[in-house]
Amino acid sequence: MKLLVILLFLFVIDIYFYLGTVSIVNKFLNNEIFYKFLYWFLSLLIYVIIVNVSINYSQSTPSVRSTNNVIFTSLIGILFISKLIGSIPLLFDDILRLFKVVISLFNANYSIHDVKRLDFLKKSALLFSGVLFSTLLIGMKWGRYNFKKNYQNIFIEHWPVALNNYKIIHISDLHLGSFNNIDKFNEAIEMINAENADLVVFTGDLVNNFYDEAIPYIDALKRIKSKDGKISILGNHDYCDYVMLKRDSQEWKTNFKKLLELEKEVGFDLLLNESRVISKGENKFNIVGVENWGAGNFNKDGDLAAAMSIVDDTLPTLLLSHDPSHWSEVVLKSDYKIDLQLSGHTHGMQFGIEIPGFKWSPVKFRYKEWAGLYENEGKQIYVNRGLGHLGYAGRVGIMPDISVLNIMSKI
Ligand SMILES: [Fe+2]
Ligand SMILES: [Fe+2]
Repeated sequence: MKLLVILLFLFVIDIYFYLGTVSIVNKFLNNEIFYKFLYWFLSLLIYVIIVNVSINYSQSTPSVRSTNNVIFTSLIGILFISKLIGSIPLLFDDILRLFKVVISLFNANYSIHDVKRLDFLKKSALLFSGVLFSTLLIGMKWGRYNFKKNYQNIFIEHWPVALNNYKIIHISDLHLGSFNNIDKFNEAIEMINAENADLVVFTGDLVNNFYDEAIPYIDALKRIKSKDGKISILGNHDYCDYVMLKRDSQEWKTNFKKLLELEKEVGFDLLLNESRVISKGENKFNIVGVENWGAGNFNKDGDLAAAMSIVDDTLPTLLLSHDPSHWSEVVLKSDYKIDLQLSGHTHGMQFGIEIPGFKWSPVKFRYKEWAGLYENEGKQIYVNRGLGHLGYAGRVGIMPDISVLNIMSKI
C-alpha cells in the first residue's frame, strides 16, 4: 500500500514535469518523439527498480553486499527531487494562468486562448532541475568520501593550563550501512591516526539499523588510536527503531546486545548515561555520555541526571550527546555545569555551502546548532557534520567531517 502511494506520487510529479516541459524540449530538439521516449522509458525503468528494491531488499544485509541499493536509491531520489524543485516555476506559471483565466471570464477583450505557459518559466523549470540534478550527481561522485578535517580551537574556563592544546578528534554519524567502501573508510582512519590525538570521541549513529552493518569495518575501527582512549555514545539510529521491531522483541534485544558488544570489541568505551574522569597526572576533567535524546519524535533514552550523578563539578565537564537539540532543550535549562557538549546527528544535511567565514544549509531551519561551535551563556556546543551519509549517498558543500578540537584554558 505504502509502495503504491509512493509510486502514485512519483507518477504525478512525472506527468506534471513532462507536460510542463515537453513543448520547449521538442522545440529545442526539433523532434517530437525523442524526449517522450527517453523520459518515459527512464521513468518506467525507475518504477521497476523501486518495486524490485523494495521487494528484495533485506534491511539486515551488511552494507558491503548492498552497494547497488544505496546508489540506486540515491539516483532515483535526486532525479525526483530535481523534478520536484523544477516543478516550482511550472506551479507558479499555473497559478498565473489561473488568474488569467478568471480575468478572461470577466473581460470580453481578453480571450481564454491567450492563456499560455510562459516560455521563460518552462525554461526555468528545465534549468532548475538540470542544475540541481548535476550538482547532486557530482556530490555522489566527489563529495561522498571527500573527508575534510575541521580544526577548531575551543576555550574553556578553568581548563587546566597544563592541559592546554589537548587534542580531541571528534567523529560522528558513521552510518556504516550506507558506507560501502572499506578502502575509503581506511583512508579516514589514517587521517584520524595521523593527528596523534589525546582522545577520540565518537558521538553516535554507528549503523543505520542493524549491528551487522558494522561487521566489515571492525578491523578498521580497532585501528583508531589515541593516547587517552576512545569514548563513544549511541545515536538514534543505533536503537534499531526504524524497522518495525518492538523493543521487547527478542530480535531487537539480540541486535542491541550485539551492537554494545561490537562497540566494546573495537575498543570504544561506550557511555550509557554515565561518566568518566580523564586524568593526566594532577590534571583532570570529566567526560559524560548520554544515550540518545532528541527533541520531537526522536527517542529519549538519554538521562542527564543519571549521567551526571557522580560527577565532580569542580572539574571541567565535557558532555557527549548525539542530538544537538538536547543542548537547548535540556542542558541549557538545567543547573548542571557542562562546559562543552559534543554532538552530531545533523549531517549538515549533506548539502549546503561552507567557506571560511560563512556557512549555510537548509538544515539550519530544523537545528539552530547544526555545524561547528556555538556559545550560549558561557556554555558551548560543537556539532560535527558526520563522517558517513544517510539517504543521499553524496555530499554537496558540507563535506564528511573529521573534527580536530584543540582545547585550551580561557583565562
Ligand atoms: Fe546520523
Ligand atoms: Fe542521528
